[in-house]
Amino acid sequence: MRHFLRDDDLSPAEQAEVLELGLALRADRFARRPLDGPRAVAIIFDKPTLRTQVSFTTGVAELGGYPLLVDGNLARIGERESIADTARVLGPQVAAVVWRTHAQARIDEMAAYAGVPVVNALTDDFHPCQILADLLTIAQHRGGVAALHGRTLAYTGDGSNNMAQSYLLGGATAGMHVRIATPAAYLPAADVVEAAAAIAARTGGSVEVTDDLARAVAGADAVATDTWVSMGQEAEAAEREQPFVPYRLDAAALALAAPDALVLHCLPAYRGKEITAEVLDGPQSVVWDEAENRLHAQKALLAWLLERAA
Ligand code: NVA
Repeated sequence: MRHFLRDDDLSPAEQAEVLELGLALRADRFARRPLDGPRAVAIIFDKPTLRTQVSFTTGVAELGGYPLLVDGNLARIGERESIADTARVLGPQVAAVVWRTHAQARIDEMAAYAGVPVVNALTDDFHPCQILADLLTIAQHRGGVAALHGRTLAYTGDGSNNMAQSYLLGGATAGMHVRIATPAAYLPAADVVEAAAAIAARTGGSVEVTDDLARAVAGADAVATDTWVSMGQEAEAAEREQPFVPYRLDAAALALAAPDALVLHCLPAYRGKEITAEVLDGPQSVVWDEAENRLHAQKALLAWLLERAA
């Protein structure tokens, strides 16, 4: 049984396969119907959502299935009932489980007991579906999946959050040079950097974490950022402003990248905080394609996982 709990659950060849299928489904949305029946996919949110709910519900329907939204506030998984027991209830009834939750250990436990593929729709540590969509967006704009290899992907902002950690793993898997610019107090976890470096050593990519924005962004083919206050960190909002101001993605920072660098943001974006309106709404921004590509990337991923679970 294959799951997608973190970016490196797909090997480089498998990631490329999923991305190729994502491009194919972008071109022909109804080309695959692995959920015909319809079979249900449980989609559970313990944190807020817009893009993820829309793209997974639409995606499951387009794959021929039934998107079964489970309200995390009602289910209170791990509180009202253990994660393992929840997994044993869901598994026999659904084709897959998609879950947005807090600690990574929670989704690991779901995967251990569900008996069906489990997909990470964002945890505190990783947001691997978003990175698939980001890679698909670069592929879309740069001549295909093979064109990812050797490109530089820079991220500026909170290096300790799920997006930064997923860029490290997912970007390295794609053979990219991943550069993270972040204050020293907000580094990605050492084990994630190590895992990404080990992957990069095999794929021909590289990873670098620096507190120097100019160094990270210099000549980059794509530049990404994310909110300084991730879901669940609202109480830290005040202290999470000043340290990141030098890492804002503004026109001056973007000017250091390649002249045609793509601007990525997983959204929601806070204009004037981590990114200026000029950059987010500017000609290099591909954030709306990136949001749409959640649909195509996740459909490809589900189709790929379901094929292996059959
Ligand atoms: N780092 C952000 C990503 C939102 C899609 C968060 O976890 O809130």
